[in-house]
Amino acid sequence: MVTLQTPRLLLRMFRQTDIDAYARICADPDVMRFLGGTPMSRGEAWRQMAMFLGHWQLRGYGMWAVEERETGTLVGRVGFLEPEGWPGFELAWTLGRPHWGRGFASEAARAALDYAFTTLGRERVISLIHPDNPRSIRVAERLGEHVEGEAEVNGWHLRVYAIRKEAWRAR
Ligand SMILES: CC(C)(COP(=O)(O)OP(=O)(O)OC[C@H]1O[C@@H](n2cnc3c(N)ncnc32)[C@H](O)[C@@H]1OP(=O)(O)O)[C@@H](O)C(=O)NCCC(=O)NCCS
Repeated sequence: MVTLQTPRLLLRMFRQTDIDAYARICADPDVMRFLGGTPMSRGEAWRQMAMFLGHWQLRGYGMWAVEERETGTLVGRVGFLEPEGWPGFELAWTLGRPHWGRGFASEAARAALDYAFTTLGRERVISLIHPDNPRSIRVAERLGEHVEGEAEVNGWHLRVYAIRKEAWRAR
């Protein structure tokens, strides 16, 4: 059960009691615009939480639930995604709409990147981002990721942002 802490956030495993907050996040069309394009039902949100836990079990790394330490609120999810057939080892981020604009995604993603390069010993981390998603692009750029190509994922044409271990260490 890997957990990470940052000054404001706790990155921890999803648990059953997250369902109300996570279903609310996934039901928001603004949040889902570039994540499949349509809001998720509560059942779909639950199955996604279960997938994240299964991903940890199968791959040894995966997605964290992100909790604001001060309030205990679930603000979103940040972590690694690499389901079968994925273009690479991806770092991904999603926050509930009320939590945008506070630097939470970048703060959590920095801790996750450090974990990827230091603890997991990864050489390269990618993020798959739609070209019309400027907020997500800004997160990638703040981390030092650069466009390295394109990928077709579930019918979506996405940019491949990437950063290598040496570049991360040199920052
Ligand atoms: C992508 C997403 C996570 C970005 O969220 P975000 O809040 O814009 O990103 P960050 O958490 O890094 O916050 C950065 C913003 O907070 C502001 N901010 C406020 N307080 C801050 C602080 N203490 N530290 C850092 N930044 C702070 C920054 O100025 C910046 O705003 P700006 O981009 O308007 O200049 C969010 O828009 C989202 O969940 N979108 C829907 C899901 C999605 O598309 N995910 C990505 C799929 S590729």
